[in-house]
Amino acid sequence: MNAICVFGLGYVGLPSAVVFASRGFSVVGVDVDAGKVEAVNRGVSYLREPGLEGLLREAVAGGRLRATMDADEALKLCNTVLIDVPTPVRGGVADLSYVTNVLTRVSRRLRRGTLVVIESTIPPGTTSGLARRILEEGSGLRVEEDFYLAHVPERIAPGKAIEELLNAPRVVGGVGPRSTEVALAIYSRVNPNMIPTDSTTAEFVKLAENTYRDLNIAFANLLALMAESLGIDVYEAIRLASTHPRVRIHQPGPGVGGPCLTKDPYMLASLLQEFWGTELIRLSRRINEFMPHHMVKIIERVAGLEGFKLSGSRIAVLGSAYKGGVDDTRESPSKIVVSELMRRGAVVIVNDPYTSESFGAEYYGDVYKAVEGSDMVVIVTDHPEYRDLDLERVGRVVRRRVIVDGRRVVDPYKAMSLGFKYYGIGYGRAWRI
Ligand SMILES: NC(=O)c1ccc[n+]([C@@H]2O[C@H](COP(=O)([O-])OP(=O)(O)OC[C@H]3O[C@@H](n4cnc5c(N)ncnc54)[C@H](O)[C@@H]3O)[C@@H](O)[C@H]2O)c1
Repeated sequence: MNAICVFGLGYVGLPSAVVFASRGFSVVGVDVDAGKVEAVNRGVSYLREPGLEGLLREAVAGGRLRATMDADEALKLCNTVLIDVPTPVRGGVADLSYVTNVLTRVSRRLRRGTLVVIESTIPPGTTSGLARRILEEGSGLRVEEDFYLAHVPERIAPGKAIEELLNAPRVVGGVGPRSTEVALAIYSRVNPNMIPTDSTTAEFVKLAENTYRDLNIAFANLLALMAESLGIDVYEAIRLASTHPRVRIHQPGPGVGGPCLTKDPYMLASLLQEFWGTELIRLSRRINEFMPHHMVKIIERVAGLEGFKLSGSRIAVLGSAYKGGVDDTRESPSKIVVSELMRRGAVVIVNDPYTSESFGAEYYGDVYKAVEGSDMVVIVTDHPEYRDLDLERVGRVVRRRVIVDGRRVVDPYKAMSLGFKYYGIGYGRAWRI
C-alpha cells in the first residue's frame, strides 16, 4: 500500500524507478511492453546508462523493484504514481493520449492520500487542467484535499541519467501548496536539489529549457552556414566569441536529434499560435532540421571536388546515435545522412560503438574495418571514441584520404598533416546553400 508505481519504463521511467528503489522505496514498474517487463524482473537493463545495470540488479534481487503489465494490480499497492509515458508531437500539437490513458486508469483506483506525478513533458496547464479533471471525475475525490497532483519534469541527459536524477537541480510543481509539499518530501529523499514551484510554471520551465537549447544550436548552425560562405572556421569564431564574458554559443553540427529538442519547442510555440513572434522557435527548428540535408550536400560537393561520384562510392559513416556517448538513435540526423547517401547510390557502411543501428546500411562494430576501402569518412556523431581515432591507421586502410567532419571531432590540421583532405560543417568552404 505504500509503494511507488512508475508507468512507462523507458529512457526516463526505468532510471527513475531504479533510483527510487535504490533509496529504499518499494517500486512497481508498469509497462505495456512485455519484453521490458520481463527484462526488469530478471534484473537486466535494456538501456545503456552508467550505473543503471548494477542498481537495477540490486533492487530486483533485494525485492524493492519489480515490473508488471497489470496496471490495476500495481495500483492496489501504490500510494505514489509516477507517469513517464511518451508525449509525441503530431502536426505541431502534443499527443497526450498515452498520459490520459494512464490517468483514466489511475482515477478508477485512486485512494485518499495518493500522490500522482506527471514526469512526462506536457504543455503548460495540462496538470492543473486536463489531468486534474480526469482524476477528480474518475475518482470522485478532490485534489489538495483527498489526493495530491504535481508535475516534476525530467532533465536527465542520456548517459548521465543516474547521476543527474540523484543530484541535478529539478523543479517540483504541485497544483497547490499541499501537492508541492508532498511531492517535495518524496523527491527530496532521492535528490537534495529539488526546487518548489507550481505545476504550470514547472511545465513551462521544462519547455523553455529545451527550446532555449534548440534556439542556441540553431544560432550556431546559422553562424556555420555564414562562416562557410566567408571561408572561415566557425568553431574558431565561436571559441573566440565565447571568450566574451557574457556570451555562450553552442556548437554547430549536422542537426539535432533525440526525443526532446525535436518536439518540445513545438509544444511551446503552440501556446501563442496567433503571435508572429513564435516564428523564432519554428525557424530555429527549421534551421536544425535543414542541417542533415546540408551535410549531405557538403558530402556530394566534396565527392565532386575529389573527382568521384557518390553513386557506387564507398562511404563510411561514423555514428548513428543522435549524440556522443549514447546509444539513442531516435530522430538522429544520421538516419537522414545515411538514407540520402544510399538513395544517391553510395555503398554506406555505418559504425557506432554504442549501437548497431545502421538505418539499413551495412554495420561494422570495428571502426577500422568500417573505414576500410572507403572513399570518404563522414563523422556524424561526436562519440568520445572518435576523438581518439588513430588517423595514421585510418589513412593506411581507406581508399581515399577524405574526411567530412560534421562535429569537429578530428583536428583539421592533424588530419591534413597526415595527408587527409579535411572538410566539415562551418569550415572554410563556400558551399553556397
Ligand atoms: N528520453 C529523455 O531523455 C527525456 C528527457 C526528459 C523528458 N522526457 C519525456 O519523458 C517522457 C517519456 O520519454 P521516454 O524517452 O522515457 O519515452 P520511451 O518511449 O523511452 O518510454 C515510454 C515507455 O512508456 C511505455 N508505455 C506506453 N504506454 C503505456 C501505458 N499505457 N502504460 C504503461 N507504459 C506505457 C512504453 O512502452 C515505453 O516503455 C516523454 O514525455 C518525454 O518527452 C524524455
